[in-house]
Amino acid sequence: MIGQDHIRRITQVLSGGAVTAVSDVDHGRAQKVAAALPGAKVFQQGEDLIRSADVDAVLVTSSAATHERYVLEAIAQRKPVFCEKPLATTTQACARIVSAEEAAGVSLVQVGFMRRYDHSYRALKGAIDEQTVGAPLIIHCAHRNPSVPDSYLTESAVVDTAVHEIDCVRWLLGEEIVATRVFKPRRTRKASAHLQDPLIVMLETASGVIVDVEVSVNIVYGYDIRCEVVCESGTVALGEAAGVAYRRANTWGGQVPASWIDRFVRAYDTEIQEWIDDVTRGTGVSGPTAWDGYAATAVCSSGVQALASGERVEVLLLPQPKLYGSGKGVAK
Ligand SMILES: NC(=O)c1ccc[n+]([C@@H]2O[C@H](COP(=O)([O-])OP(=O)(O)OC[C@H]3O[C@@H](n4cnc5c(N)ncnc54)[C@H](O)[C@@H]3O)[C@@H](O)[C@H]2O)c1
Repeated sequence: MIGQDHIRRITQVLSGGAVTAVSDVDHGRAQKVAAALPGAKVFQQGEDLIRSADVDAVLVTSSAATHERYVLEAIAQRKPVFCEKPLATTTQACARIVSAEEAAGVSLVQVGFMRRYDHSYRALKGAIDEQTVGAPLIIHCAHRNPSVPDSYLTESAVVDTAVHEIDCVRWLLGEEIVATRVFKPRRTRKASAHLQDPLIVMLETASGVIVDVEVSVNIVYGYDIRCEVVCESGTVALGEAAGVAYRRANTWGGQVPASWIDRFVRAYDTEIQEWIDDVTRGTGVSGPTAWDGYAATAVCSSGVQALASGERVEVLLLPQPKLYGSGKGVAK
């Protein structure tokens, strides 16, 4: 899904990039996709694509459990690699990628946390950085999906859904999340029998900011992403979605996006355009780093333990390598 969407944006929307090769474990699918890309080669093995002289930079959009091997191969070939989130499915696998990149001594890896490229989130970060209403104290987030497939598990609420808020909080505040806790509110009757929905995921940051993330994945009415930062002398929040607002028949209101694609399509465009520009300039990646991917997976792992135990679970991170060197470790 997302791989073909990135091909569409590189070939039809963005400038400066060309898709010269594709690979998928489903070879027939790769061939079908390549048939619509003039001159593109098809490789049976992802590693052979990465090694190919026709390939300057790599996007990894395969299933999450396969990310590690392709990212490690790209680092071995010293080629820039954009990896869809998650960087890898375990904290240990992410740590192996961080070590390999550190050993290579050059920043090659970017992780697909696309909300950092959303216009509203960027404005929110600007307001926090400038302290327009003082220092942040509390953040209220909501991540609401209209529905999810039956294959979606309660753990997915942390690992696949709240992971975006986890990355955003680290980025907005420029500091690490040090502990998690998960609460289980009354279940909605709209959820599958096996699913605890909604959840409240609580995050604690190094400076003591407390974040509550409501995850509701059967909310019916639309795809709704909310984030309000409570500061010392005011609050700052994501605005309501773009588009028109109505006043009619004694009511007022606007539209709620139908899906994450509607809500974040421009963010994906900006994300991949900036990555292409960085790769073309050869100045190293400027987006979310392997360290950001590692930290997000470590927080998710703490959240999964907190979900099972009902307890507060600390996030344990390795010492941060100098390569990621802002001191606080969170890429701007
Ligand atoms: N940033 C975001 O908001 C966002 C959105 C959607 C998906 N994603 C991420 O992108 C990744 C792909 O998600 P998707 O929804 O496109 O999944 P998908 O199932 O539609 O596509 C995955 C593809 O990977 C292929 N594949 C599986 N194992 C492989 C292997 N060993 N080598 C090569 N190809 C292999 C499959 O055949 C399939 O074509 C996931 O990690 C997902 O979390 C991120």
